[in-house]
Amino acid sequence: MPSTALTHLTTLVTNDPAYGDGGPLGLIEDAALVVEDGTVVWAGPARQVPAADETYDASGRSAIPGFVDSHSHLVFAGDRTAEFAARMSGRPYTAGGIRTTVAATREASDDALSANLARHLREMLRQGTTTAETKSGYGLSTAQEARALRLARAHTPETTFLGAHLVPPEYEKDPDGYTALVAGEMLQACAPYARWVDAFCERGAFDGDQTRAVLTAGREQGLVPRVHANQLSHGPGVQIAVELGAASADHCTHLTGADVDALAHSETVATLLPGCEFSTRSPYPDARRLLEAGVTVALSTDCNPGSSFTSSMPFCIAIAVREMGMTPDEALWSATAGGARALRRTDVGRLSPGARADLALLDAPSPVHLAYRPGVPLVAEVWRDGVREI
Ligand code: NIG
Ligand code: FE
Repeated sequence: MPSTALTHLTTLVTNDPAYGDGGPLGLIEDAALVVEDGTVVWAGPARQVPAADETYDASGRSAIPGFVDSHSHLVFAGDRTAEFAARMSGRPYTAGGIRTTVAATREASDDALSANLARHLREMLRQGTTTAETKSGYGLSTAQEARALRLARAHTPETTFLGAHLVPPEYEKDPDGYTALVAGEMLQACAPYARWVDAFCERGAFDGDQTRAVLTAGREQGLVPRVHANQLSHGPGVQIAVELGAASADHCTHLTGADVDALAHSETVATLLPGCEFSTRSPYPDARRLLEAGVTVALSTDCNPGSSFTSSMPFCIAIAVREMGMTPDEALWSATAGGARALRRTDVGRLSPGARADLALLDAPSPVHLAYRPGVPLVAEVWRDGVREI
């Protein structure tokens, strides 16, 4: 494939501190980027750009690494508009709403589920997301969970087995029996289609022992744990995530000092999901506290039909800056490099040599505009593997 030089970039975020002023964003002003065979081969000041086969004039736009959305639930059918509307008139969010989506998902054809998934991934792409993780968890039987992951796997390698999302109605009287099914037969059927194993550790979902059982069994099958932890209340989720070497503890809304300490002394990323607090009218997680303690923070949409039906990483960045104490630079890093850390990927979330040429071009002189101009569609172009897709 011929090499292409993207020139006339007002700013370029590399997320590589070897570039620019040495800050975490590795920001270069008046920059150029050369891509070849789907990979970044050069980044630097425009005046030093090496010769390339083709030149693409970026017209003064800013380039950032494509967003890495490390937490979503896109294999679903049905609609929960009524639940959202009721919540906005005062009814609280509970995990119970998941059942509505489970019923609709079980009824849906493979084609309908795949089409819905593709539509939401496309929606994400239009908003600059070039890598997306997605989970099962609305099937809750062996056949349904395996189907969800098989369908998801055709769209993304970042698939997560979430059989432990909620105890389905047919096991209401036997939650331990359901946990055994998840950690046994269901896991066996799902592991070939999954990279990660997750559990919703929460009152009303799975307790500490059940969470540990599922994640440990998943690990034995070669899946890496991640945990829905401390979303609606204090609980053991974060401690279990750290204890089991999970890639990420997600939500982290209700944390004790010991939880923050445990994260700070671990490789486990704290993935914050502000769309969820926005859509459930809940208090936001304290990103500042985590950052001050030295925790690696990722931002993600949690896109799902119940608690957070947004596919927009720019929206999450804007909330994280306004409501969670993050600076615009920190939020951008967390939505790109942070997501890559949460997925243990070194090939995405940055734009320096060797990285995949996955990027978004913003109609803005600086990526700070993502927070400064909330709700404005600044993502003008999206390139994946060195090819312009949007
Ligand atoms: O991440 N917390 C559990 N799961 C989802 C919500 C799923 C739903 O309400 O359908 C979440 O918020
Ligand atoms: Fe989630």
